Amino acid sequence: MLKKIAFAVLFAAVVYLVPNANNAQDKKHSFEGTTVCGVCHKTEKQGQQLKIWQESGHANAFKTLQSEEADKIAKEKGLAGKAAESKECLECHASGHDVDKALLGAKFKMEDGVQCETCHGAGSDYKPLKIMKDKAASVAAGLIVWADEAAIEANCKTCHNEKSPTYKAFDFKTMYPKIKHNVPKS
Ligand code: HEC
Ligand code: HEC
Ligand code: HEC
Ligand code: HEC
Repeated sequence: MLKKIAFAVLFAAVVYLVPNANNAQDKKHSFEGTTVCGVCHKTEKQGQQLKIWQESGHANAFKTLQSEEADKIAKEKGLAGKAAESKECLECHASGHDVDKALLGAKFKMEDGVQCETCHGAGSDYKPLKIMKDKAASVAAGLIVWADEAAIEANCKTCHNEKSPTYKAFDFKTMYPKIKHNVPKS
């Protein structure tokens, strides 16, 4: 019983704190990088999450900051440095910029922009197969899950909002299918 309550509390904390996905890293688990997640999440049977992500805007979110357009926006905003080095831009365009280097796995690349763990949480402790196959264990090890579509939408809007200097109205119903990567139901 106690165990059950403790788990419910933990689950509630994970679901309801709704952090900016990007700052969800709780300084305990390390970011592994998309290549590490992609090893298992690439087959058709699994749902080709790696490919869907690679073809989405999220994979280019950091590279976008390295453009002239981005530096111009940064300058207009009065930022001293380049866009790709400014935390005011990185907070929505990449993971890992504000993280202790000791918590970045060997294969982690900030250049991968908005990556698997930006949304799903730093994966060093949930990535082992045995844990991944057990949802509760994965959540206990740092995997972020959402209660329903409203919670997913709220998570998108931690970045897709008016604080974005180039903000375009975000229609969840049309935007979500562009990046959706569920495991196909067999
Ligand atoms: C060793 C292989 C492996 C690695 C590495 C791995 N996963 Fe998984 N993952 C799995 C398997 C297997 C499942 C269970 C899939 C199922 O139920 O069909 C799973 C499930 C998941 C789920 C669904 C959880 C749920 O039930 O809602 C998410 C999200 C996920 N993984 C994300 C990640 C991310 C992000 C990474 C990288 C940090 C990662 N995985 C690394 C094998 C792996
Ligand atoms: C950590 C911040 C962040 C989160 C969370 C996030 N996005 Fe994004 N998203 C971005 C950024 C930044 C871009 C722009 C990438 C670029 O153009 O370089 C983007 C681009 C996109 C694009 C491509 C835009 C286009 O029209 O081509 C889609 C679609 C999208 N996001 C959907 C979503 C959905 C759906 C969610 C929630 C499930 C979500 N995003 C969550 C930051 C985020
Ligand atoms: C609150 C989150 C957020 C912040 C902060 C943010 N961006 Fe973005 N950025 C986005 C999203 C989301 C997109 C996708 C298009 C949109 O809706 O704005 C995007 C798109 C872009 C684009 C592509 C332009 C386009 O029309 O798609 C550029 C360039 C860009 N951002 C530069 C910057 C720069 C430079 C900064 C820092 C001064 C910055 N962004 C800060 C979320 C953010
Ligand atoms: C922009 C945020 C975002 C990014 C980036 C992202 N995901 Fe997801 N992912 C989600 C959402 C939202 C769901 C749906 C969760 C649900 O249905 O409850 C999801 C679902 C999943 C699932 C479970 C599918 C199922 O049907 O159970 C897996 C596995 C997964 N993602 C793996 C990955 C991997 C691997 C990457 C990187 C290659 C990645 N995700 C990148 C937001 C994201």
